[in-house]
Amino acid sequence: MASFSESDTLKRVKPSPTLAVTAKARELARAGRKVISLGAGEPDFDTPENICDAAIKAIKRGETRYTDVDGIPELKAAIVAKFKRENGLDYKTTQVSVSPGGKPVIYNAMMASLNAGDEVIVPAPYWVSYPDMVLLAGGTPVFAVAGMETGFKLTPQILEAAITPKTKWLILNSPSNPTGAVYTAEDLKALGEVLKRHPQVWILTDDMYEHLLFDGFKYATIAQVVPELYDRTLTMNGVSKAYSMTGWRIGYCAGPEPLIKAMSKIISQSTSNACSIAQWAAVEALNGTQDFIAPRAEVFQKRRDLVVAMLNNAKGITCPTPEGAFYVYPSIAGCIGKQAPSGKIITNDEDFAGELLQTEEVAVVHGAAFGLSPFFRISYATSESVLTEACSRIQRFCASLK
Ligand SMILES: Cc1ncc(COP(=O)(O)O)c(C=O)c1O
Repeated sequence: MASFSESDTLKRVKPSPTLAVTAKARELARAGRKVISLGAGEPDFDTPENICDAAIKAIKRGETRYTDVDGIPELKAAIVAKFKRENGLDYKTTQVSVSPGGKPVIYNAMMASLNAGDEVIVPAPYWVSYPDMVLLAGGTPVFAVAGMETGFKLTPQILEAAITPKTKWLILNSPSNPTGAVYTAEDLKALGEVLKRHPQVWILTDDMYEHLLFDGFKYATIAQVVPELYDRTLTMNGVSKAYSMTGWRIGYCAGPEPLIKAMSKIISQSTSNACSIAQWAAVEALNGTQDFIAPRAEVFQKRRDLVVAMLNNAKGITCPTPEGAFYVYPSIAGCIGKQAPSGKIITNDEDFAGELLQTEEVAVVHGAAFGLSPFFRISYATSESVLTEACSRIQRFCASLK
C-alpha cells in the first residue's frame, strides 16, 4: 500500500495546541484521574431557548436545502442591522458574508488575498489559529510582541516597527484570546494614525468576544473609530461566544465588496453555505432579545475577579486583570528555575503546565502556544466552585515549588 504523505502546505502548520491540551486532559480523566480542564474556549451556558426554537421552526418549515453560498438574505439583513445598531457601521448586504464559524471567515479572507511573500502582522500573544491560517494560505506571519507592560496591546511604536512594504494585513483581536485585553477607542485611533500612513495594509478585526466586556467597558471597533480605514477593513464577528452557539457554526464578516466576492468564490468551491438551520437560528440570535447577554457577562466578571484574586495569591504568579473575554493570562516568571515535586526543574511554561497537570490535575495551556512566554492561559468559562478548586490546586502547586 502506498504510504500517505502530507502536502508541503500542510507540513507548514501544526494542529491546534489548545485542542491538544483538552484531548490530554480527557485522556487522563478516562484513566480515572480527577482532572479539571481549563483549556477549552467555549461558554458553559446553553444556547438561549428562543434561538433553539427558531431552529426547530426552521426545520419544520423545511429550511433544509442549500442556501446562497455566503448566507441567506434574512441573516445578511440581520447582520447589517447588528453592525448599524451596535457599532454604528453602515454596510450593504452585498458587503456581508456568512461562514460555518468565525474560523473559516479568517481562513477564507487569507486564502482570498495572500500571495507568497505577503506578510500578515499577528500581535503576540495571539489566538493559536492566526499564524497557521496565514501559513496555510501561503503568507508569512510577522509577530509583533505586545507584552504585559503594554497591557498585551499593540502600541503605535510596535505596529510601526512591524510594517514593511510587503505587509498585506494586520490582524486585531479585541477582546483578546488569550489575554482578555480590550482596545479602547483611543488605542484604536492611535493605531489608525500609523495605518493611515501605510495604505497597503488591510485590517482584519476579530470582534468575536465583543459582548464579553467588564466594568462598563465601552466597545469600539476600528472601522467605526477610524472611518478612513473602512475601505480596507474586514470586520469579523460571530454568534459562537456571545450567544453560546459554538456548535452551531455561524461566523460572519463585513467589508469591501471585492473581498467579500472573492471569499464567496472560495466558499462556493469548498464548504458551500453554512448550515441552513443554524443560519435561521443566527437570525433570531441577532434580531431577538439581547437581554441575557449582560447578565451572562456579569457572571463572567465575577469569575474573573475570583480567578485573578486567587492566582495573585499563588507564589510566583502575577495575574493582570483583563477587561473582556473569558481568559486570564498570568505570568509565571516567578516560578522559572524552581523544582517541582517530581524533581523536574521548571525551565519554561510548557514544563509548568505539564507538571501542574501531572501533580495537581489541572489542565491549562502554556504561553508558548500563544507566542508569548513565560505565561499560561486559563479559560474561566466554568462554575465558581470548579474555579475555586482549580485555583486552590494551582496555589498548592506553586507553594510546592522549591
Ligand atoms: C479569537 C477567536 N476568534 C475566532 C474564533 C472562532 O470562532 P468559531 O468557533 O465561530 O469558529 C475563536 C474561537 O475560539 C476565537 O477565540
